[in-house]
Amino acid sequence: MATKATITFDSDSPPIDLPILKGSLGTDVIDIRSLGKHGYFTYDPGFMSTAACNSDITFIDGEQGLLYYRGYPIEQLAENCDFLEVSHLLLHGELPNVDQREAFVSTIKQHTMLHDQMSNVFRGFRRDAHPMAVMIAVVGAMAAFYPDNNDVSDPALRKTAAIRLLAKVPTIAAWSFKYNLGQPFMYPKNKLGYAENFMHMMFATPCEEYTPNPILAKAFERILILHADHEQNASTSTVRLVGSSGANPFACIAAGIASLWGPSHGGANEATLNMLEEMGDVSRIGEFIKRAKDKSDSFKLMGFGHRVYRNMDPRASIMRKTCHEVLNELGLHDDPMFKLAMELEKIALEDDYFVTRKLYPNVDFYSGIVMRAMGIPNSMFTAIFALARTAGWISQWCEMNADPEQKIGRPRQLYTGAERREFLALHER
Ligand code: CMC
Repeated sequence: MATKATITFDSDSPPIDLPILKGSLGTDVIDIRSLGKHGYFTYDPGFMSTAACNSDITFIDGEQGLLYYRGYPIEQLAENCDFLEVSHLLLHGELPNVDQREAFVSTIKQHTMLHDQMSNVFRGFRRDAHPMAVMIAVVGAMAAFYPDNNDVSDPALRKTAAIRLLAKVPTIAAWSFKYNLGQPFMYPKNKLGYAENFMHMMFATPCEEYTPNPILAKAFERILILHADHEQNASTSTVRLVGSSGANPFACIAAGIASLWGPSHGGANEATLNMLEEMGDVSRIGEFIKRAKDKSDSFKLMGFGHRVYRNMDPRASIMRKTCHEVLNELGLHDDPMFKLAMELEKIALEDDYFVTRKLYPNVDFYSGIVMRAMGIPNSMFTAIFALARTAGWISQWCEMNADPEQKIGRPRQLYTGAERREFLALHER
């Protein structure tokens, strides 16, 4: 196995040797840090071939369709764990034993309420504000309510920030929905499980008790586990880049939420259901597929494709199964929208354009359908993705802050603008 790579030039410049770094799994990495000293940068828009950090948290093999959190295959975690156990794994590196689990869950439960004054932050918004806009603001505002966490140099305080975020983000997400509806905010109920409590805060009212359906609560835990972390994706890289300047954890997570909102990333689950609604009927599938293939049309089939997975996304396989369980439980298999989604999946999986480009339905295709079946409005889908991904973001943020190699993120560029020119006074231009 090569241990160094050598760059040679078609000029007199001497060759440059670069070390090759090996991870425990996955692609080897050429360490190009010394290149700048030789007068070169590398060019990689979209970070197609760039490792920006080292990380012990999540491993993906896109060719084989593998996803591991801390070495555990996602299938085993989704089958056997709840979301807080997985959050413990991401944050602390190990699945908790019985005592650790009890302590972790109880600590999270002590922090589920928001500072009472925070309800005023919600009230500054229009009632029709998108829940993601509200979440970005309220999570960012936590820096003003919990200023002790603004010191990022103390590992113990970083862990407190992680606990606060894991505990409070579900309350923030559910309240952004209640605010849309014009219903009173529901306080967390700490005797409930994490997913059940979120469902309670979403669907209960002060006049109606709400008993979460255990099958739906399990499906919800699974959605959270599958979305909890995904290596150095756009939003996680955003969290790391913002955090690299020493910014407080709430600002970093608010930035992650902002990045997640885009339809190419977490916004895809909402965009998928909006697309299905626009399609309306099986008879229009051909028209949408034609548009997706047309290079002069920017339209993409939402919920299909992935930057890393060139095989079935393992999360999508699990979510697909969960989707059928939920549709069966709710007797929704004949619902026209779900029939349309299943027909679209079938047609796209057989279509040569999608087959040759290895464009499979991704996790957001199925999670959107499950959440819709559960009565969650489209506008909340990405907010729920953000709530799940908070576990990964804050674990990655803690890891970055503890990394001795951590530096402020500062990419370089290939400048293509005007060369030096002389200033002209206004009347001379
Ligand atoms: N519909 C139609 N064509 C597509 C699609 C799609 N959904 N996705 C990719 N392609 C085509 C693309 O045009 C390109 O074609 P060609 O080789 O002829 O130029 C080819 O497939 C390769 O795609 P790419 O643009 O190189 O892929 P990328 O890695 O830059 O983009 C993606 C990945 C996820 C942004 C893209 O597939 C997409 O926009 N999908 C729809 C949005 C979506 O569902 N996003 C959720 C991702 S999963 C959740 C998450 O992790 O955030």
